[in-house]
Amino acid sequence: MSTLIDVAERAGVSVTTISRMLNNRVKIGEKTRSKILAAMRELDYYPNEIAQSLTKKKSNFIGLIVPSAKNFFFSQVIEYTEYYAVKKGYKLLLCISNHETAKEIEYFGMLKANKVAGIIIASRTQDLQDHLNIDSPLISIDRIISSNIPSVCSDNYHGGVLAAKHLIQKGCKSLAYISGSADLEFEANKRFIGFQAACLDHHVTSPIFLNATEERFFSMDYQEIIAGLFEDTPYVDGIFTSNDIIAAQILQYCEKHNIQIPEKMKLIGYDDTDLASLCTPALTTIHQPIEDICREAVDGIFQQSSSGIMPQNHILPVSLIERETT
Ligand code: RIB
Repeated sequence: MSTLIDVAERAGVSVTTISRMLNNRVKIGEKTRSKILAAMRELDYYPNEIAQSLTKKKSNFIGLIVPSAKNFFFSQVIEYTEYYAVKKGYKLLLCISNHETAKEIEYFGMLKANKVAGIIIASRTQDLQDHLNIDSPLISIDRIISSNIPSVCSDNYHGGVLAAKHLIQKGCKSLAYISGSADLEFEANKRFIGFQAACLDHHVTSPIFLNATEERFFSMDYQEIIAGLFEDTPYVDGIFTSNDIIAAQILQYCEKHNIQIPEKMKLIGYDDTDLASLCTPALTTIHQPIEDICREAVDGIFQQSSSGIMPQNHILPVSLIERETT
């Protein structure tokens, strides 16, 4: 197996020059950089960055802990976080917790042992703050874990207000909201609070609220809840859902039961993931600035890691994207 010395000899440079280039310490001339990269390719050499990090105070890895990679929102979080981490000179260590606190804690320990430059967590479990004895920079996205952990979220409350106003402007009189799992302390629960407040401000009866158990929320299978809504409250004419995945299942139900959207039922989702524009009819939804959330989180890690200054909490604005379901 080739070593750093073999690469240095092949490229005609010193081992020190290569180490400085790999650690982004100094600017290397493009000609020299190309020679080094060519030698690494020819010798099939890849630096062992995990091993390097064990000899230094910290590595140039960022750990990202998400509950799922198949959920459209979190798959875009992974994509954007990786993009902005690389732009800042980091690499990404992805950890998927499957909504399990024990796994999140285990991953914290693994990332800490590997001296990551920082951790970004989109935690979906409770009481995590009791286990966060970590000295690396830590940023929470999509949730506020505790007052001493910086967070980046979207303005969930205003998202609910925008959804209610739009449905009311479209003539809806009986509204319903299908939640994630309100039993979990999520920022996302503010979507209903804003939705309900706007309904009352506009003298529309308080919306029907349908909660989901943790298990159902984690599985994202809302068929039963949706069927119950249509069977028990056929007078509902406008539905707001806490994410696009739930809204897509409502479109499936309406297609199957020949309920015309938006003529008979108007529908708004939340997130504006790739799924929203792929639905038929295309989904009106509340746009969460997922890319901005991820960029802010990576910038927060960089700021704390390079200057020691704790980043501020960020609440990023949301917007209504009107398509064909309203
Ligand atoms: O399932 C994805 C949803 O959960 C998104 O709306 C995100 O904000 C998280 O709360």
